[in-house]
Amino acid sequence: MRTRYLQSANNVYTHRLLLASLVIASLWAQYASARDDRGANGHYTHRVESRDGIGKFYMGREIARIVGHQAARWLERSARVSEEKPDEVVAKLSLKPDDIVADVGAGSGYFTFRLSREVPQGKVLAVDIQVEMLRMIQRRATLQAVDNVQTILSTIDDPKLPKSTVDVVLMVDAYHEFSHPREMMIGIVAGLKPDGRVVLIEYRGEDPTIPIKPLHKMTEQQVRREMKAVGLQWRETQSFLPQQHFMVFAKPD
Ligand SMILES: C[S@@+](CC[C@H](N)C(=O)[O-])C[C@H]1O[C@@H](n2cnc3c(N)ncnc32)[C@H](O)[C@@H]1O
Repeated sequence: MRTRYLQSANNVYTHRLLLASLVIASLWAQYASARDDRGANGHYTHRVESRDGIGKFYMGREIARIVGHQAARWLERSARVSEEKPDEVVAKLSLKPDDIVADVGAGSGYFTFRLSREVPQGKVLAVDIQVEMLRMIQRRATLQAVDNVQTILSTIDDPKLPKSTVDVVLMVDAYHEFSHPREMMIGIVAGLKPDGRVVLIEYRGEDPTIPIKPLHKMTEQQVRREMKAVGLQWRETQSFLPQQHFMVFAKPD
């Protein structure tokens, strides 16, 4: 009787030990995979991707999937005029006629051509990683005889801007989907003139009533943290847009 009792106590103990080992092993595997995926510079972590994300995290947020060139028509939809007030956005940039402006993540050029009208003696650099988007911009520039738009085929981690030449970098609905936001911003800062500005427009992540997928929105706090991390100084956030933040940052002199 006593032997049988000892045997069953032994079984329970072994069972519990096995269970505990399994839990520890699984926790360790999760920790190790997150740690191993941080990459060379340690700024990113990877986890299972959510529906609209790429499973890569930067400063606590998951990076969104990019909008493919197949969605170019959606980017040109007429409702954007009332939803995103593009002419007001461009007016608020207070550009000088000879400014060099970079439209980073230019897409089909929805902002590029509005910008080009404001800098007749300057230039717009339309930067994108999708060659199909840049071809649309080039076709339109040729059709409309616009000669101050230059396209730049960038890479996922380098905007390929000429160093210290850009007065204003505009990014509209694009930054949240950069797969290498830190490297992109370091390249952007290098491309800015001293005291150059970055204007970042993103759907407001604080407002759950805005009908945009959560990963395609950003909170002001998150953007400010990420810009500070690459040495940019926050100047102001304007609230004239119905659904987006209009945030201005400057490169310190
Ligand atoms: C949602 S679209 C917005 C396009 C445009 N700014 C607009 O408001 O219509 C985002 C664009 O960012 C581009 N993009 C994503 N990652 C990029 C990167 N690392 N460098 C440059 N462009 C990028 C995508 O190819 C896409 O064309």
